[in-house]
Amino acid sequence: MNSELLDQISHHMGANGLPYVLPIHPNLVHLTLGLFIIAIVFDFLGVFFPLEKWVFKFLGITVERSQLFDVGWYNIFAASVITFFTVGAGFFEMLLAAPPADIKSPWGMLAMPTMMWHGVGGVLLLAIIVGMTFWRGWQRYIIGLQHEREVQIPYLVVGAIIMLLLYLHGTLGAHLAADFGVHNTADKLLRMGQDLNQVLGGK
Ligand code: HEM
Repeated sequence: MNSELLDQISHHMGANGLPYVLPIHPNLVHLTLGLFIIAIVFDFLGVFFPLEKWVFKFLGITVERSQLFDVGWYNIFAASVITFFTVGAGFFEMLLAAPPADIKSPWGMLAMPTMMWHGVGGVLLLAIIVGMTFWRGWQRYIIGLQHEREVQIPYLVVGAIIMLLLYLHGTLGAHLAADFGVHNTADKLLRMGQDLNQVLGGK
């Protein structure tokens, strides 16, 4: 979005450059990440249940293998649903972003390429998470019925690789928020030469 247009609408914006107090995308990302990671971790626990069940017994936790797989399935399903909102909010907040052009991230990247890689990567990750959900659903409802072990090893391997991608992708996002100060209230106020303690109600 060009700077003239941003100036026009900036009167309706808060100090974070958004028409609402708290940025939505950074809140939703934790649901995407948390739900996906829990889904894969519980499926790991389900697949290797015979090896670790003594630990549950030792800790006095009564758990059945199928319950671990339930957590794996419902969490990946929820990750899929929520990630549509994560990506939607990411697009909205990216369109209203006006990052500084003269700063480089810890990875040596400028703000625009960081935002582009993060945006495109986010859409690809949405597609991948939805694809994983179909794969998981197929294992659970179509082929899983014949097996006590609901999940195949390749699914866990791909899940672990996606977790690594999410880590790299999330780091790009963190560069946007922390290093480029995108929609970061404190960062924006400092750039405007304001006294944070005064404006944000500190001492
Ligand atoms: C799987 C999808 C995505 C994940 C897991 C994700 C993750 C993250 C994370 C961890 C942050 C840092 C938040 C913070 O430290 O406060 C972030 C920030 C950000 N992301 Fe994403 N992101 C995703 C998709 C997208 C997409 C598709 C876009 C835009 C097209 C986008 C735009 C942004 C922007 C503009 C920020 C700066 C903070 C803000 O939004 O206010 N993200 N993202």
